[in-house]
Amino acid sequence: MNRKEFLKVGALGATSLLFMPKLSAANKATGLKFGVITDLHHDIMHDGLERLEAFIDSMNQEKPDFIIQLGDFCVPKEENKELMEVWEKYEGQAFHVLGNHDTDGGYSREQAVEFWKAKGKYYSFDQNGYHFVVLDGNEHNDSPDRPGGYARYIGAEQQKWLREDLSNTALPTIISCHQGMDNDLGGLENGTAIRYILEEANENANFDKVILVLSGHHHQDYYNQINGIHYVQINSASYQWLGDDYKTIRYSKEVDKAYPWIKFTVPYKDPIWAMIHIKGKGTITIEGKATEFVGPSPKDLKVDMSNYVYPIVPKISDRKIK
Ligand SMILES: [Fe+2]
Repeated sequence: MNRKEFLKVGALGATSLLFMPKLSAANKATGLKFGVITDLHHDIMHDGLERLEAFIDSMNQEKPDFIIQLGDFCVPKEENKELMEVWEKYEGQAFHVLGNHDTDGGYSREQAVEFWKAKGKYYSFDQNGYHFVVLDGNEHNDSPDRPGGYARYIGAEQQKWLREDLSNTALPTIISCHQGMDNDLGGLENGTAIRYILEEANENANFDKVILVLSGHHHQDYYNQINGIHYVQINSASYQWLGDDYKTIRYSKEVDKAYPWIKFTVPYKDPIWAMIHIKGKGTITIEGKATEFVGPSPKDLKVDMSNYVYPIVPKISDRKIK
């Protein structure tokens, strides 16, 4: 792997499918359509296969330019090969973003990348005159002051790669990272620093190069515009986590026995996902799906909302962003 290739795919990944962007008229941003699903949590849900099947069937009908899953998909264990068989039924290009739960049970991120046949832990690619960057928000912060819990950090080496990757493209750019940039919501610990890298890239380019940042992880439905960049949180395909205080058997005793984590969640009845259209240099349309809760809603259960900030909703909002 030469240096240029390394810069494009990060520390791990198949390089043959990737190339340096040609900044020619042929790469003019003509329009892009892609399907996004996130936080399927196949290892928690009893119906992950059916949920993914519904997404893949719909995508095979709609034929976007590519599909992408934003993490917390499945751990790389033998039994999950059947989920990958469903994923592989998609007839076009498909991309992966690593989530914190994809290594639960002691797996490594490298193992998840291999199992999914992903391009790498972090990487970038071009499509229809747009640049797309996938970040790995699961790096460990070695500082003794780091908060406990799952790693949610982007270290110096990946930051350097991101800066160089952004300076090597002149195309409108979309970023995706499992965790949002909101440290106080349990997103990236150094989200502010990463946001600043994106803002610097726009300032150096003298135009709004980075137009959109997508995240999952929070199982919520919100949007922020910060210093000229649009940040869209894509809700989970499956549920919101409520915790010990709100345990409810949502399906049946049999399902609860086989899938004991579901009772800590409020599941969404049908799987939800989004189709994102981008036109020109930055007209973004999001078509999201909506469903209902299975069993008592967070409101019925009088869930303490101070941990969530944004409302718990079983939908991904339609949005038109310019
Ligand atoms: Fe997550």
